Amino acid sequence: MPDSFYFEPVEPVLRRFVEDFRNIVARDGGTPSLLPSLRGPAQTLLYDTSWITEAQRIPIAGTTATYALYRSQEPDLCIFTMVVAPGELTKVHNHLTDGWVGLVQGEQIERKFRREDDGSRPGYADLALVAEERIPLGGLTSIRHPDEDIHQILTVSREASVSLHVLCNDLGTVARQSFDPDTHEATTFVSGYTNVDGESRIGR
Ligand SMILES: [Fe+2]
Repeated sequence: MPDSFYFEPVEPVLRRFVEDFRNIVARDGGTPSLLPSLRGPAQTLLYDTSWITEAQRIPIAGTTATYALYRSQEPDLCIFTMVVAPGELTKVHNHLTDGWVGLVQGEQIERKFRREDDGSRPGYADLALVAEERIPLGGLTSIRHPDEDIHQILTVSREASVSLHVLCNDLGTVARQSFDPDTHEATTFVSGYTNVDGESRIGR
C-alpha cells in the first residue's frame, strides 16, 4: 500500500503524462524549455478526459475545491482539479512554480496580475492588473514564476468550472500568498487539497 499521501495515477492517460513528465525532466529539467515541452502532454489530458471522475468535479460553495490526482514524492509534480462554483471567484493568488492549467468544464475569466513592488515589505504587495481573458472549454494557459504567476479565476458559466492543473511543485503544501490588490495586503497561506488529510504533506 502506498503512503497515505502519495497518489499513484491509475488512469492510463495520467500514468502516461507522468512518464512523459519524467522523460522531459530527465532531458530538460531545470531549463527554460521544461514548460514548452510539457505543453503537448498537458494538451493530451484535455483531449482525453477519461482520467476525471465525478468526485473530482464537485464544487464547494464559498471556497475553492481542489482534488489531488497525483503528487510526486520529490515533490516536483502535482496534478489536481480545481473546482470553482458558479458565480464565485478565487482569491488573487500565486503558485511559486511553473505549470499548465486546462479548462475541462464550464467557462472562466482569468485576471492576470503583475507585482510592481520588490516584495521587501512583509504583508504588502503592489499589484497591477495586466489582462482579463475569457477561458473557453479546452483552453490551456501557462503559469510561470515569477513574472506570470499571479492571477484570479472567476466562474462565468452556469455550471461549476473545473480546471486541470499540472504544476512543478506540491502546490497544496506550499506556503504562498494571496493578495488584495485594493488594500495591498499580502497574506501567506497553505491551500491544502480538499481530498487530502491536512497531516499528509509531501512538500513539508
Ligand atoms: Fe491559480
